[in-house]
Amino acid sequence: MNKVKVLFVCLGNICRSPTAHGVFEGFVEQQELADSIEVDSAGTGDWHIGHSPDSRSAAIAKQRGYDLSHLRARKVTTEDFSNFDYVLAMDETNLSDLKALCPSEFTGELCLFLNFHPDQSYCEVPDPYYGGEDGFDHVFDMVEVASQNLLEHIVSRHQLKAKTG
Ligand code: 4NP
Repeated sequence: MNKVKVLFVCLGNICRSPTAHGVFEGFVEQQELADSIEVDSAGTGDWHIGHSPDSRSAAIAKQRGYDLSHLRARKVTTEDFSNFDYVLAMDETNLSDLKALCPSEFTGELCLFLNFHPDQSYCEVPDPYYGGEDGFDHVFDMVEVASQNLLEHIVSRHQLKAKTG
């Protein structure tokens, strides 16, 4: 069976999208679904290509039991739309940049990641890069809830077998 492929996208690919990548990948592994779901992340900008996630994201990830150490920033490409089923933007600017890049043949889902957050008053994952530590914690809080819901959506829609109900 083909894997379901999920790509998280932000601006720099060093704060928000690697956070979503690491958290969602952690949930996929917990549910023993790594053979069925592939996870990646990318940025619309190119300033941080090849860089590890921001040290503030990495530190909070570690505190919460996720590992971001294997992640390196890359820029999103048109080919990503041939490879991924879900392309999930962290904010409206990322989404409009992705729409400009998206080929008309794309049949997957291109939308805001927080469409999968149960609290629909949340739309965008705020960029924590220029702020303090609490911005990063807030990002993790949102990302954990949305990732849980996204995983439940994918398991149900693609009829995957999760470890627990
Ligand atoms: P991210 O945060 O999009 O969540 O990775 C940013 C990281 C770096 C920059 C902007 C946003 N930057 O301008 O370098």
